[in-house]
Formats: sequence, structure tokens, C-alpha cells
Amino acid sequence: MTAVRYELIDNIALLTIQNPPVNAASHAVRAALLNGLEKAEREAKAAVILGDGRTFVAGADINEFGKPPMAPILPDACNRIEASSLPVIAALHGTALGGGLELALSAHYRVAVPDTKVGLPEVTLGIMPGAGGTQRLPRLTGAEAALKIITTGRPISADEALKLSILDKIENGNPREIGLQYAQAILNDGKGPRPISAMPSPTTIDFDSWHAAALAKGKGQIAAATAVRAVQTACELPFFDGLKRERELFSNLMASPQRQGLIHAFFAERAVSKLPELEGVASRDIKQIGVIGGGTMGAGIATASLLSGFQVVLVERDENAAQKARSTVEKMLDGAVQRGKLSPETHAKITQDAFTTASDYTAISTADMIIEAVFENMGVKRDVFAALDKTAKPGAVLASNTSYLDINEIASSTKRPKDVIGLHFFSPAHVMKLLEIVVADATAPDVTATGFALAKRLRKVAVRAGVCDGFIGNRILAHYRMAVDNMVLDGASPYQVDRALTDFGMAMGPYAVSDLAGLDIGWATRKRKAPNRDPRERVPSFADRLCELGRFGRKTGRGYYIYPNQKEDPEVLQIISEERADQGITPRDFTDDEIQRRFMAAMVNEAARVVEDGIARRPLDVDVTMLFGYGFPRWRGGPMKWADMQGLDTVLHNIHTFAQDDDWFWQPAPLLEKLVTQGRTFDDLNKKAAL
Ligand code: 3HC
Ligand code: NAI
Repeated sequence: MTAVRYELIDNIALLTIQNPPVNAASHAVRAALLNGLEKAEREAKAAVILGDGRTFVAGADINEFGKPPMAPILPDACNRIEASSLPVIAALHGTALGGGLELALSAHYRVAVPDTKVGLPEVTLGIMPGAGGTQRLPRLTGAEAALKIITTGRPISADEALKLSILDKIENGNPREIGLQYAQAILNDGKGPRPISAMPSPTTIDFDSWHAAALAKGKGQIAAATAVRAVQTACELPFFDGLKRERELFSNLMASPQRQGLIHAFFAERAVSKLPELEGVASRDIKQIGVIGGGTMGAGIATASLLSGFQVVLVERDENAAQKARSTVEKMLDGAVQRGKLSPETHAKITQDAFTTASDYTAISTADMIIEAVFENMGVKRDVFAALDKTAKPGAVLASNTSYLDINEIASSTKRPKDVIGLHFFSPAHVMKLLEIVVADATAPDVTATGFALAKRLRKVAVRAGVCDGFIGNRILAHYRMAVDNMVLDGASPYQVDRALTDFGMAMGPYAVSDLAGLDIGWATRKRKAPNRDPRERVPSFADRLCELGRFGRKTGRGYYIYPNQKEDPEVLQIISEERADQGITPRDFTDDEIQRRFMAAMVNEAARVVEDGIARRPLDVDVTMLFGYGFPRWRGGPMKWADMQGLDTVLHNIHTFAQDDDWFWQPAPLLEKLVTQGRTFDDLNKKAAL
């Protein structure tokens, strides 16, 4: 198949881009487009550019990033199209994004089908438009509207694009028909080429304020702020000088580690659901979901399921608890109405027709999937699953939302362990995008496939995990928590730790996170693990003291911080200081840099063990888990990508250094040592797994 199909219909040349799945503007596409244009200039009176299949061009080919550019590069191709002697029409459908929209802007006229979306999402990949987008778009829309599109990266609807003059026309039909019709109309009207580069420069605005706002919003990310400066040149320089400046800024961003992190995240997010063992495995049909337990998680899971069109029946311990759960779910749905995610009519319909609550397990006898979210206690979970075994219909998927407990043991309390799986949602479950799909020893492949299919329906990112204490995410969390608790024992304050780690880019510091989740959760886990604790493990007794004082975090108004305003608390520092004295520790100072290095070394070290044990299939599965469930900064790509970019030898060296004080905690993961010896990276393992 040629990258661009050429057809001459009367005196109009149709150039149809054929590069499935999203018609990315690869080298082959760019070269074939220009060949087609030259032919059109010899044979036709107008040219129409359109995309084959599901979309117009969704952007430059991201696979070419980081490799030497191949001529014709996209900006040159766009300039050549714009300079054509023929009127060139872009006929859009699907998504015209990034280089795709830039290609359309280099055409002289743009027509689109009504559900088309257009946008410049480059900043979400750590770059900015680099094929004239920062120069052409503001000439059409004005600087302010262009900045909104470029700095947020959010696509806009065809209607909005028409209002902003990005589109000339919206037409029903297919891109071929509407492109031909529009080209004919242009010829009939005697119109010729209309290059945006010849349009006047946009009026200047307060770019310094836009730049400062983009920097602040970026929390360390530089792409959007850089793009502001590029748009500024559209107001200040002649078109082709502006293009040159755009190229320089674009190339700087292309060379940045942030671009590498964000592109890794883009591909990793798509790779997690590609499991060879599920190829060709059909999922089970799910219409009705039963939820057991309507507390924090059960209510969130019920809400997420209702919002995605499932029937939900929620079972609580008694009628009072069931009523309470119903009202929690209704409040969450109210929130969805307020955020514009749900219409009041659908809210009413859902709560009346799709949602029932009960206090008797017979209510779930028709459910296709049942998700348990009761207290985190093995005895309680075993009882629930034994009861489900008696009531659930044959073939129903039985899932547990446990945070840490052994899914194999839970499954063994039923006579149908092949139907049992872990579905680990994150709080709040109707908002957080991550779903860990925990595959137990006996879980049937079609049950795993059903977990992934559910995630897709819920618009969540699903990662396959194996069974161990905490699966992928919480196991790693438990380890880096130990590292930060040890730093606090040794002299850092929890507030310094939180600040150092939010400065690193974490959405929240670990102590603020504990307050949000509830300090009682960690307390219960410590008590559960106490009998088997290694005598060399250091105990964060200050955390137990806070719990003994009833300070469970946000829900009790006090934890590490005082709420509602999350103020630091001198009493907490006093408690920590007393605990240090009790343990005979002389406190020392930590720099923010050391806090960050210890935190990351602990995270990467445990993550390497998680991969080595097969709990995560590949390093990229860890990256996606930490990005979507634990607030790890996307622009750093995830902990494994971060480690690769630091150099695994540097991370290992740090671990050896830290081991000088505590060689029990800081034992290097064998996989990390092996990769360093072999001079390989975590990404090499991702690639090997993809083969
Ligand atoms: N280059 C290469 N491959 C791409 C791609 C691109 N620009 N966009 C998507 N793909 C690939 C995906 O990796 C995926 O591959 P896979 O099937 O092997 O996993 C496949 O196309 C389908 O993608 P999705 O699964 O994401 O399909 P959806 O239908 O859910 O979404 C989409 C389609 C909205 C187009 C989404 O893929 C998307 O947002 N793509 C990226 C768009 C983008 O960021 N464009 C700007 C690129 S940078 C640029 O243009 C620079 C320029 O200014 C010079
Ligand atoms: P919660 O205490 O808020 O809610 C538990 C609910 O289960 C209570 O409403 C209780 O009445 C009900 N319940 C207890 N036994 C029951 C039974 N036999 N039948 C029906 N209902 C019963 O607890 P939460 O936070 O919702 O946690 C639930 C599960 O989800 C736990 O396993 C927890 O580890 C896990 N989890 C919690 C997260 C969190 O951030 N809170 C995140 C991810 C998982």
C-alpha cells in the first residue's frame, strides 16, 4: 500500500493518506504527499488532502522522535504545501492533532465532518508544535485563543474550531465527498491559494503573564511555557523568522529528558493492556455488577460502574448501612452532575432504574461480576467469599478489592477459585484511573480478560499484577514509606520530606498521602506484620503514637497535619523527637537532594524486585502503576524510566552508599545488580518482553 493514494477526479486531485491506524505523518507519508502534490500541480486545478480509515492525521509519527530527522521534515512539507500554486483543501474527520492540524493549517481551506476534533497536544508529550502551529494558528485565531489550545494541549470540537476560524466549513458526509464538493465550490468561485503565512501577525498580548502561569501550572514541566515564547514570536517577527525560532525551541524540547519521560508514558500506557496470554481470549459478558460493602471504596466502585452504564446492586451489612451507602453513591453522582459529567436526567434514571441496595446476599444472585470491598481482614473476606460461593450464579466473576491480602487464600474459601481475581481500585474509585488486575494461581484467562474489558468500559488504565503482599503498587509504596520513615527517625521532619518530594514532582508528599488514606490503615498493617517482623527492621514508632492519640489523619482532623487547612503541627514534631530519644537516635540534617535520592532509590530497588518476582510483567507496568495510582510525575516517565535516565549504576551506587548505615534495608535487588553488570537498562527488558 502506498502511503498516499493519488486520484484525479475531473480536475481535482485527491491525496488520501494511508498510514493506519492513525495516519501519523511518517517519513513515507511526507514524501508521498509532496510527490502527489507535484503530480497534482501538473494535472489538476485543485488538491484535496484527506485521511483514509478512522481519522485524518493524528500527528507527527512519535516513533521517529529521538532519531535523526529524515527529509522532507514536516515543517518543510507544510511550507511546500502552503506554497502550492493550486488551492489546497484539507478535508478532516476523526482527530486532526499536532502535526495533523499543522498539515491542515498549511492547506488553504479546511472543511470537516461534524464530530471532528482538532488540537495541538504536543505539550502533553513534552514538546510543542514544530511544523508551524505556533505561527499559523495565532494568525487565524488571535494569540490568546491559540495559547489556550497550545498550552493545554486539549482538543476542541469542530463547532468551536469553526468559531475560531480554524475551520471554514462543517459538512455532513465522508471526507472524500465533502472535500470534493468544497474544492469544486472553491474553483467555481474562482478562489485561489490562501496561505496563512501571508496573513497579518496577531496583536501582541501580555506574554510574560502567560509564561509565568504556564510555568506555575507545569510544576516543573517546561513545554507549555516554552510554547508561549514561540507564539510570542508570531506577534513580533515576520512569519519565516518566527518559524525558525519555533524550530529552535522545538528542537530544545525534543532533546529534553521530559520529552523522553512523556513519550515513554504515552507508549507504556498503551502497552500495559497488551498481554500475549490474553490474545484471542474472549471476556465474559458483564451487565450487572454486585458490590459488597458500601464504605469508601465500595461506594466509589458502585459510582464508577453506574457512570459507565452498568446495573449495580450494592450489599451492606444491614439496612441502615445500605441506606448510608446509597446516599454516599447519590452524593458522588451529584458531584458528577456538578462537574458536567452527567446530566440531571441520567442521574435520576440511574438512581431509580440501575442502582439497588440490599442487606441480603441473595440480591447478588443475578450479578455477572461481584466486587468485594469489605474491611481489610482475611477472616471477614473469607466469610464473604464463602457466602458469595453459595449465592453467586455459575460463571459470575468474584473479585476482591483488597489492598494487600492474599487472593489465593481468598479464592480458596470458594469452590470456584478459577472465577476469583483481584480488582484493586484506587481511592476515590470513580476518579482514579488505575486498576490493578491481580491474577491468582487458579484465575481463568477469560476472567483476567474480563477484568481488562471492565477497565476499558470504566475508562481506566489496567495493569496486570501477580499475588504478593501489596501487589505492584502498595508493595513498592510500603518500601519507600519505610525509607522516608527511617529518614524521619534519623532527623528529617515529615514536612521537609513532603516538600522535597513535591518539589521532585510527586502530586503529594507521603505524609500528606497517609493523612488522606487514614493513618489507621498503616497501623493495622504494622500490627498484622509485627509477629513476622525481622528484628533488623526499624519501626516508625512515632506513627503508632499518633494513632494511639486518635490522630488518624484528615478524617479525624489531625494526623501529621492539622485540618482542614493542612497546617504543620509542632506537637507532631515533639512526638517524633521523643521517639528518637527513646530509640537513642541523635538527629542529623538531611538535604532535599538526599531525601529525593533515598526515596527514589528505595522505590526503584523494590520495583526491580517486583519485576524480578514476576509480580509486574515488565518495568513499564511498574511505571504505569506509579503514574496513575501514586501521583508519580508523568514527565519523569515513571520510576523505572527515571532510573534508566539517571543511569542504573548511579542508582546502585546510591544504594551501596546508604547501605553503609543500614545494610538490612538497603540490600540491592539482584535484577538491578545484574542489569548494571550487563550494561543494560529496564527499557531493554520492556523491549525484550515486546518481542
Ligand atoms: N505516532 C505514532 N503512533 C501513534 C500516534 C502518533 N502520533 N498516535 C497514536 N499512535 C498509535 C498508538 O501508539 C497506538 O499504537 P498500538 O495500537 O500499537 O498501541 C495506535 O496508534 C492507536 O492509538 P490509540 O490506542 O491511542 O487509539 P485511540 O483511538 O484511543 O486514540 C488518538 C487515537 C486520539 C489519535 C491517540 O492515539 C492520540 O492522542 N495520539 C497522539 C496524538 C498526538 O499527540 N499528536 C501529536 C504528535 S507530536 C507532533 O505532531 C509534533 C509536530 O508538532 C511536529
Ligand atoms: P470502609 O471501612 O470504608 O468500608 C468497608 C465497608 O464494608 C463498611 O461500610 C462495612 O459496613 C462493609 N462491610 C463489612 N463487612 C461486610 C459484610 N460482611 N457484608 C457487607 N458489607 C460489609 O473500607 P474501605 O476503605 O472502603 O476498604 C474496603 C476494602 O478496599 C479494603 O479491603 C481495603 O483494603 C480496600 N482498599 C481501600 C482503599 C482506600 O483508600 N480506602 C484503596 C484500595 C483498596
